[in-house]
Amino acid sequence: MGYRVAVVGATGNVGREMLQTLAERNFPVDEVVALASQRSAGGDVSFGDDKVLKVQRLDQFYFKGIDIVLSSAGAKVSADFAPKAAAAGAIVIDNTSFFRMDPDVPLVVPEVNPQAIAGYKKKNIIANPNCSTIQMVVALKPLHDAAKIKRVVVATYQSVSGGGKDAMDELFNQTRGIYVNQTVEKERFTKQIAFNCIPHIDIFMDDGSTKEEWKMSAETRKILDPNIAVVATCVRVPVFISHAEAITVEFERPLSDSEARAALKRAPGVTVIDLRADEGYVTQTEAAGDDAVFVSRIRRDPTVEHGLSFWCVSDNLRKGAALNAVQIAEVLVERYLQKRPAAPKRKAG
Ligand SMILES: NC(=O)c1ccc[n+]([C@@H]2O[C@H](COP(=O)([O-])OP(=O)(O)OC[C@H]3O[C@@H](n4cnc5c(N)ncnc54)[C@H](OP(=O)(O)O)[C@@H]3O)[C@@H](O)[C@H]2O)c1
Repeated sequence: MGYRVAVVGATGNVGREMLQTLAERNFPVDEVVALASQRSAGGDVSFGDDKVLKVQRLDQFYFKGIDIVLSSAGAKVSADFAPKAAAAGAIVIDNTSFFRMDPDVPLVVPEVNPQAIAGYKKKNIIANPNCSTIQMVVALKPLHDAAKIKRVVVATYQSVSGGGKDAMDELFNQTRGIYVNQTVEKERFTKQIAFNCIPHIDIFMDDGSTKEEWKMSAETRKILDPNIAVVATCVRVPVFISHAEAITVEFERPLSDSEARAALKRAPGVTVIDLRADEGYVTQTEAAGDDAVFVSRIRRDPTVEHGLSFWCVSDNLRKGAALNAVQIAEVLVERYLQKRPAAPKRKAG
């Protein structure tokens, strides 16, 4: 007894991770349908260690009878299919940016605002936030509860997998090409990404920030608190998986670094690795494949009255995308659908 689940974008970085996460966490499924474009229809994708699913065409699929859709095929695709799937009775958990700021669509990180999921009934759609926002708000939540955050300054170090499978290939091909003296070809990135860092993710906005930077600010306010000011600088770095963030927070009330460390250690989804010693912190390659949001380098910011700086790392394909979406589905099943048994959970981190 379980649910009928469809994964849209099942052949992509996030879609494959969604299938893996559903299987790993024993999400109660009766049937899983893998959907993608005409390009990969008829091919195979793995579901768990021992099952293989045939990829079907999204544009020829009818969603009647599907309970939950986990979607990650780009904003344009979601804009078109999600309302149709929702009208057919499915609840769509969408990974793209298209519905995130819609007031009738909840934007959810289960460790931070699970209560918002109740709002899914307005459109039968729930939005998964941007990968950089997710890991940041998981770490900010216990600090906000402890001392009320006024302002956040964040610089990101984002891996190329955040740009999809083609972006990963571009880093690989450029890196190999440079070693054999070939000309660097760029397609997905605006500049060479191998051995380089690019302070430009998504389009430029009128105020000079990028849309990725705007998302971190707007989404944090929707999820955590509309009064928090966030200024971000988002940078693509030549790392395959996991995003890192240098975060500085200003509070309304005093919070020592040891109180902050204790609050973070108690927080769901957070793992604190913070030794003031060689290797006493987590880096991007170490976080890849893990569910946790890792926090390291916690220290007071002496330039303001109540300030704190720290380093935050997480796998952008897991907590930044697939895991967060599956956790939303688990809350839906446990609190709102309740027609079949709840998923046995594995604790993040
Ligand atoms: N990567 C991240 O860290 C991350 C985090 C949060 C959100 N997201 C969002 O998730 C989405 C996908 O990201 P990704 O990294 O998985 O990209 P990806 O690796 O490039 O995969 C894209 C997926 O979408 C499918 N697709 C593309 N056009 C389609 C169409 N017209 N109809 C049906 N399926 C179509 C592709 O299928 P084919 O194989 O048939 O081309 C593939 O399965 C993006 O909107 C992204 O912003 C990504």
